[in-house]
Amino acid sequence: MSAPGWEVAPGGALQGEVVVPGDKSISHRSLMLGAIATGRTEVTGFLASEDCLATRAALGAMGVAIESHSPTHLFVEGVGRDGLQAPSGTLDMGNAGTAMRLFMGLLCGRPFDTTLVGDASLMRRPMERVAKPLREMGAVIETREGRPPVLIRGGRPLQAIDFRMPMASAQVKSAVLLAALSARGRSCVTEPAPTRDHTERMLAGFGVQLLRSGNRVELEGGQALRAARIAVPGDFSSAAFFMVAACIGGGSGLMLRNVGINPTRTGLLDMLLSMGADIRVHRHAGDSPEPVADIEVRPGALRGIAVPEALVPLAIDEFPIFFVAAACADGETLVRGAEELRVKESDRLATMAAGLAALGVEHELLPDGIRIRGRSGPVAAFGGGRIDSHGDHRIAMSFAVAALRAAAPIRIDDTANVATSFPGFAALARSVGLGLRELA
Ligand code: S3P
Repeated sequence: MSAPGWEVAPGGALQGEVVVPGDKSISHRSLMLGAIATGRTEVTGFLASEDCLATRAALGAMGVAIESHSPTHLFVEGVGRDGLQAPSGTLDMGNAGTAMRLFMGLLCGRPFDTTLVGDASLMRRPMERVAKPLREMGAVIETREGRPPVLIRGGRPLQAIDFRMPMASAQVKSAVLLAALSARGRSCVTEPAPTRDHTERMLAGFGVQLLRSGNRVELEGGQALRAARIAVPGDFSSAAFFMVAACIGGGSGLMLRNVGINPTRTGLLDMLLSMGADIRVHRHAGDSPEPVADIEVRPGALRGIAVPEALVPLAIDEFPIFFVAAACADGETLVRGAEELRVKESDRLATMAAGLAALGVEHELLPDGIRIRGRSGPVAAFGGGRIDSHGDHRIAMSFAVAALRAAAPIRIDDTANVATSFPGFAALARSVGLGLRELA
C-alpha cells in the first residue's frame, strides 16, 4: 500500500501571516478535565486533529457528551470525577501517546476495566514509565512487554504517592497527577527537570488546589473539578516549523499570530536566538493561565551552538525542525542528553539522521543526540532526495521546510500522519511561499 507523500520544490520566498491550529497538549487536557468536572466546560481554539479526536471519541465511549459549535469550539458536559461509564470495547488512541498515557492515569481509579490500543507506532512505545508509579498507588495495569495494549483493571482503591520521576516527562507527571485526584491522601510528584506544566495550570483553572514549589507538585486526593472556560492558544510546536522556515528561507519573513509561549515549551526560541536568529515576541495582554504572543521572524544568518541540556525537555518536540535549522547554520551544532527522542512517534534521532544523510548533510549520530555540521550562506544546505518520514508527522514537516534551502526537490513519503497534529499544514505552507505539492 502506498502512503501519500509530498514533493517540495527547492527554494522559495516566505512572507505573510500564519495562524497555526490549537495546542495539542492543551486540547487533550481540556477534554479530559472538562469530562471529569461538574458543569459545562467551553473550549475555544480546540485542535481538531486526529490525536485530539481520539481523546474525544474515547470520552464519548465513556458517556461524555461533547457538543461542537464548530470544529474548534466545543462544549463538554462534565460527568464529575466518578461519572465516567464503562466503554463497550477497547479504546483506540490512534497515534496519540499523550492520550494513552494520560488516560492510564485518569482511568486506573475507576470501577470498570479498560483496554487501550493504538496504531503501529503507538503499539511500540513504552508504557511502563506510567504503569509503574500507578501500580505503586494500587492500580492494576498490564502491558505487553512494557508496550500497549494496556489493560487497566477497575475497582482498585488508589493511595497517594511520593513519586520522584526517573525521566523528564510531562505525560508521566500528568498521568500520576490525574490518578492522584482519585487517591486517598496527598500525592507529590518531583521531576528531574522542568517539563510542560499545562496539566498543573489547567487543574488550577478547574478549581483544584495544588502546591507547586521548584520541580515539585503536591495535590490532595478527592478534590472536585468545577467546569471552566478554556481558550486554547496556537501550538508552539506547530509554529516551530514556520519559525525555522522564516529564519532559513528567502523573502521578508513571517508573523505568527496567537502562539502559546508557556516557558516550559519555548526552548526552541532560546536555541534559535542564541544561534543569532532575528525573532521578536509580542506578548498579548491578559493571557493567563497560558501566555500567548505574536512572533515575528525575519531571515538571517545562523551559527551553530552546543545546546544546553537543560533546554532539551523544553524543546522536546522541536528537535526535528531544530536539526534542519542546524544544517543551515554556520559551523557545528551539538545536541546531547536527548535520548528521549528515541521513544517518540519514531526514533527521532535515527529517523532524522537517515533523512540528513539522504540529503547530504554532514552529521554524527550519537546515542543521546547528534552533531551536525551546517552550511550557511548562499550555498544550498541540503541536496535533493527522498525521505521516509516513518509515519512521523514532525519528521515530514521538518523536511518540507528543509526544501527552502535545498539544491533540488525533496520528496517525502508517508505524510498522512501530519493530520495527527497539524491538519492543513500543506495548504498553510503553500500560502506563505513553500512549493509543496501533495502526491496521491
Ligand atoms: C506531551 C509531553 C511530551 C511531548 C508530547 C506531548 C504532553 O511527551 O513529547 O508530544 O502533552 O504531555 P513526554 O512526556 O513523553 O516527554
